[in-house]
Amino acid sequence: MIVVLQSLWLLVVILVFSIQNQVLVISNNLTCNYDDMRGLAGFMNGLESSIDGWWPPNSSSLSCCNWVGITCNSSSGRIVRLELPSKRLTGNLSNSMANLDQLRTLNLSHNFLKGSLPVSLFHLPHLEVVDLSGNGFNGVLPNLSYLSAHSNNLSGVLPPSLSNSPTISSINLRNNSLDGSINVNCSLMVNLTSLDLDTNNFSGQIPESFKNLESLSYLSLSNCSFNNLSASLKILQHCPNLTVLVLTINFYTEQLPSDYDLRFKELKALVIANCRLTGSIPLWLNPLAVVGFVME
Ligand SMILES: *[C@@H]1O[C@H](CO)[C@@H](O)[C@H](O)[C@H]1NC(C)=O
Ligand SMILES: *[C@@H]1O[C@H](CO)[C@@H](O)[C@H](O)[C@H]1NC(C)=O
Ligand SMILES: *[C@@H]1O[C@H](CO)[C@@H](O)[C@H](O)[C@H]1NC(C)=O
Ligand SMILES: *[C@@H]1O[C@H](CO)[C@@H](O)[C@H](O)[C@H]1NC(C)=O
Ligand SMILES: *[C@@H]1O[C@H](CO)[C@@H](O)[C@H](O)[C@H]1NC(C)=O
Ligand SMILES: *[C@@H]1O[C@H](CO)[C@@H](O)[C@H](O)[C@H]1NC(C)=O
Ligand SMILES: *[C@@H]1O[C@H](CO)[C@@H](O)[C@H](O)[C@H]1NC(C)=O
Ligand SMILES: *[C@@H]1O[C@H](CO)[C@@H](O)[C@H](O)[C@H]1NC(C)=O
Ligand SMILES: *[C@@H]1O[C@H](CO)[C@@H](O)[C@H](O)[C@H]1NC(C)=O
Ligand SMILES: *[C@@H]1O[C@H](CO)[C@@H](O)[C@H](O)[C@H]1NC(C)=O
Ligand SMILES: *[C@@H]1O[C@H](CO)[C@@H](O)[C@H](O)[C@H]1NC(C)=O
Ligand SMILES: *[C@@H]1O[C@H](CO)[C@@H](O)[C@H](O)[C@H]1NC(C)=O
Repeated sequence: MIVVLQSLWLLVVILVFSIQNQVLVISNNLTCNYDDMRGLAGFMNGLESSIDGWWPPNSSSLSCCNWVGITCNSSSGRIVRLELPSKRLTGNLSNSMANLDQLRTLNLSHNFLKGSLPVSLFHLPHLEVVDLSGNGFNGVLPNLSYLSAHSNNLSGVLPPSLSNSPTISSINLRNNSLDGSINVNCSLMVNLTSLDLDTNNFSGQIPESFKNLESLSYLSLSNCSFNNLSASLKILQHCPNLTVLVLTINFYTEQLPSDYDLRFKELKALVIANCRLTGSIPLWLNPLAVVGFVME
């Protein structure tokens, strides 16, 4: 009979992985969940740089839960957070990170990682927060539920599956190369409070479905090549909690509508500089509420 212990494994691990193209064969006693160990080995394998304090482990770090950037659930012993921002990591992300199947938070922001994003990563059942900002990732964006991945080289259209999650609260895809028209069904995105798509290469109009974003408070669409300001404002006025609206560098040379029917009850700041708009500051903007109105 084989008894498999689900919790902590005492392992004699023999790992073969490469750091900076050297192949090392290391054996040691580690208390670390077997799947987590495989996930970490895969992660290290994709990296070209090493992580100080990870390998080889010294006597005080025999559990991978004690390694820098790693947090485990103390009752299950499984890795739930992997946070290594600004660690000068180079290389790419390995598909075998999918073995970190209890991961909830992944923060690898501000490193020098590149390559495509492994799709398997985003199928992790408990993953809630992904911050891959400020790296050099490229390729097509997989269908995600949660995402902050600004300042990469992501291309393609905004994935329709972004709309699948009623739990998503923040999307930041600023400063990428996303293009096409935005074709996302927003009717389920009831928790989305912050949407930043600043500096991408979209085209056409702001989609009608944005009017379903009932929790939306912050929206930045600067420099996205949108047109038709009048239609856009008619859509966005349906977002009842919209507080900050940034539309800079779009709607080139259009006219600021003087439509008396427009209502933005909660709007505190409208930033709409560098659009070469014509017309005058319209009456529908409450001059007391709007503190950040800029028009150039
Ligand atoms: C691993 O553990 C065994 C038994 O606890 C011990 O005899 C051995 O010296 C340990 N090996 C290392 C490399 O620490
Ligand atoms: C052993 O590893 C731990 C965790 O990475 C680290 O805090 C500690 O300074 C290391 N000790 C030595 C002697 O290198
Ligand atoms: C920690 O693990 C236990 C047992 O698997 C689980 O019941 C609990 O929800 C986990 N807690 C967190 C914060 O993940
Ligand atoms: C990731 O880490 C950086 C640096 O500590 C921090 O500024 C950022 O807020 C973190 N991301 C998330 C989503 O918590
Ligand atoms: C990671 O880099 C290696 C070597 O450069 C390459 O073979 C592999 O396809 C890359 N993987 C991804 C997911 O980009
Ligand atoms: C993004 O792509 C451009 C053009 O392909 C390239 O010049 C630039 O170096 C890339 N940036 C990063 C951070 O990889
Ligand atoms: C994303 O979802 C769309 C529609 O559901 C599908 O056609 C596409 O293949 C998916 N892309 C990826 C990378 O999973
Ligand atoms: C935009 O992203 C590129 C990398 O793709 C980075 O070099 C640049 O600093 C970012 N710009 C801003 C304003 O964040
Ligand atoms: C929306 O967010 C709140 C606060 O973060 C959370 O309590 C609630 O469960 C979320 N609703 C859904 C449908 O996920
Ligand atoms: C944006 O789209 C235009 C027209 O399709 C193209 O010429 C330009 O290279 C694209 N820019 C980026 C950053 O993808
Ligand atoms: C958007 O999704 C909702 C809920 O799944 C659905 O009822 C509605 O028909 C969808 N709208 C469009 C235009 O696909
Ligand atoms: C709108 O904002 C108010 C005040 O911040 C908040 O109490 C309310 O829950 C928000 N409504 C929605 C639908 O998010």
